[in-house]
Amino acid sequence: MNIDPNQIKLKTMKKRTITAGILLSLTILTGSVMAQKQAPLYKNAKAPITQRVESLMKQMTLDEKIMQLTQGNAGQNDNQNNQGEKIKGVDPLIGSLIYTGTDVEYRNRIQKEALEDTRLGIPVLFGYDVIHGFRTVYPIPLAQACSWNPALATQSCNIAARESYLTGINWTFAPMIDVARDPRWGRVAEGYGEDPYTNAIFCRAAVKGFQGENISNPYSIASCLKHFVGYGLSEGGRDYHYSDVSPQSLWETYLPPYEAGVKAGAATVMSAFNDISGVPASANHYTLTEILKQRWGFKGFVVSDWFSIQQLIAQGAAKDEKEAGYKAFYSGVDMDMGDNIFPEHLKKLVEEKKVPMSRIDDAVSRILTLKFKLGLFEHPYAEMMPESQRYLKEEDKTTVKQMAEESMVLLKNAIQTLPVSNTVKNIAVIGPMAKDQGNLLGSWSGHGRAEDVLSFYNGIEHEFNGQATLQYAQGCDFEGNDQSGFNQATEVATNSDLIVLCLGERREWSGENASRSSIALPTVQQLLLESLKKTGKPIVVVLSNGRPLDLSKIEPLADAIIEAWQPGIQGGAALAGILSGRVNPSGRLAITFPYCTGQIPIYYNMRQSARPTQGLYQDVPTDPLYPFGYGLSYTTYHYGPVRFSSTKIKKNQKLIAEVEVTNTGSKIGKETVLWYISQPVCTITRPIKELKYFEKKEIQPGKTVTYRFEINPMRDLSYIDSNGHKFLEENEYFLLVNGQKLKFEITK
Ligand code: GLC
Repeated sequence: MNIDPNQIKLKTMKKRTITAGILLSLTILTGSVMAQKQAPLYKNAKAPITQRVESLMKQMTLDEKIMQLTQGNAGQNDNQNNQGEKIKGVDPLIGSLIYTGTDVEYRNRIQKEALEDTRLGIPVLFGYDVIHGFRTVYPIPLAQACSWNPALATQSCNIAARESYLTGINWTFAPMIDVARDPRWGRVAEGYGEDPYTNAIFCRAAVKGFQGENISNPYSIASCLKHFVGYGLSEGGRDYHYSDVSPQSLWETYLPPYEAGVKAGAATVMSAFNDISGVPASANHYTLTEILKQRWGFKGFVVSDWFSIQQLIAQGAAKDEKEAGYKAFYSGVDMDMGDNIFPEHLKKLVEEKKVPMSRIDDAVSRILTLKFKLGLFEHPYAEMMPESQRYLKEEDKTTVKQMAEESMVLLKNAIQTLPVSNTVKNIAVIGPMAKDQGNLLGSWSGHGRAEDVLSFYNGIEHEFNGQATLQYAQGCDFEGNDQSGFNQATEVATNSDLIVLCLGERREWSGENASRSSIALPTVQQLLLESLKKTGKPIVVVLSNGRPLDLSKIEPLADAIIEAWQPGIQGGAALAGILSGRVNPSGRLAITFPYCTGQIPIYYNMRQSARPTQGLYQDVPTDPLYPFGYGLSYTTYHYGPVRFSSTKIKKNQKLIAEVEVTNTGSKIGKETVLWYISQPVCTITRPIKELKYFEKKEIQPGKTVTYRFEINPMRDLSYIDSNGHKFLEENEYFLLVNGQKLKFEITK
């Protein structure tokens, strides 16, 4: 068979091509296998996190490990000429940065340097105080607690998490769950009130909101339980001060919210500033290691509060920074926030064999584990997009408006002043808070902007458009002695059918480092109310504040009082809805309003006095002005008799309690049933009553809804002693709900 020479060439070429192709693919395959072999395990997203951590730590030097234990500040590179240049002042080896900006390109450039300009490419963990909103700001946590709607708190925190995530923030320093009973302490605004159970429930809700169903999912960010522990007992309400926390109070009151948060899977904990009965929280091995890590099995990491390690020197717990660093690290602080003590001293402490490598590795592995869980190695960068796609979505505004509506508390409503009747044709909106926007954001409001806030005045203007005309007068400032605006306010009021007087606190008067010796409003605000009272017009006092106030001089002059708290960007709409009756107020106080500063501390779950009818104040009432759980509605509810599944149970049996609640009014309402227990006689004395369950339900007018509390004796009836051990006694107990008090027994 003649063979065409060209065919031979073609065949030869084909063979060579095929051979070359095989060789090439073998090379690529080998290369990729080699690459696979060379790519360290820790970069393999499919490998188990424990193996990735181990693989990475094997390669890390001591210096690299110590840098992971360090949190700095991503100071703004504000010289626009430096764009693209190395970020000045930020070490790309650092474990974490507090980022207070929203420049995603800048934040990504820092991350890029960490990933590409360092030997191991460990991403930075960016943290920020996202307490009650990132840009879409919702009510302060104390207000959220007054909504008794944890699901709504979860939704709100979920919005905050998404906006944070889209900005490149992977970690928030929230929720704050410090039980607080001294409203002179400004940080009472940041927690969920005076009750351990309420703080525990809202803590769980917030952790779920921030971390989502799975912390590895997009839009999830790590949460941080703070400030561990007993910070709310800062003496005299003076921030940063000594806190005398008895072992009994520690276990009974201050630890339970943290235990709930750890069980809810909170990623991190922040150690507090306060000195816990002689051992500062940031150098307290008992709380940080024995309780948190050993007894509760906490697998996340502990970050110190801002410079709280260095502050051990001021507290007299360390002679210098090296000793402070040793005490904090040994006690269980894993990451040093801001004061640079760990990078300065830990290496020397290891070399001197004062700090074992095992403790270094324990801390580093905790931090790396969170970074892997967050997916930072695979998704280190925030997506670039227009700001309008990141923040202030319309559906989010609706959610935070509902949060504000449900957190406001109707404290007084004499002669049915509210809701505003349609005979009211002219409303005088008066006071320093009437048109204010920024103060409605409250403390720790992230990137919230005053211009995003609907003021009370604008909310009322929108709500009553076409129904009533509005007049406005500021009347006075928040403080000072200038009464020159009173006359104009009086004039405006005289020409109106109703006065809405908006008073309250500047946002700076609560939050961190905002202790006040008196919880009364400045006198000038009180005098304005007194001046307006002379007009004889009905007065609705609206309050925006970050703490319980002494309303003893305001209450007698007001026909109605609405505690609006610091409601966030939708505050004006929420308030206006309550004024018009579009919203039936459903908030109840999660913290007691003392009659006056002199009553502090006063809270619902105090212990019984040895002489309940004596030892009363000689000069003021002994009862608070508004107790925990207090709040009015525009409708009325009738509680049927509480029904028990039994009045005697054994320790291992459940007890079902039910109550039927009827809406006997004409307006739909949301009613929260608060279930308390009490054990009048016990091995240790117990609080007069303790909240153990609550549930909020919507009830149509004329309808009846059943509320049910399934009592689990060990969970709901046991007491905890000063060593943290729970005991359940065969004894008599009482269930208290809405004025009913029913006895039952735990028997052998
Ligand atoms: C502050 C606060 C703490 C906050 C931290 C970072 O001092 O005590 O709540 O998370 O520093 O801003």
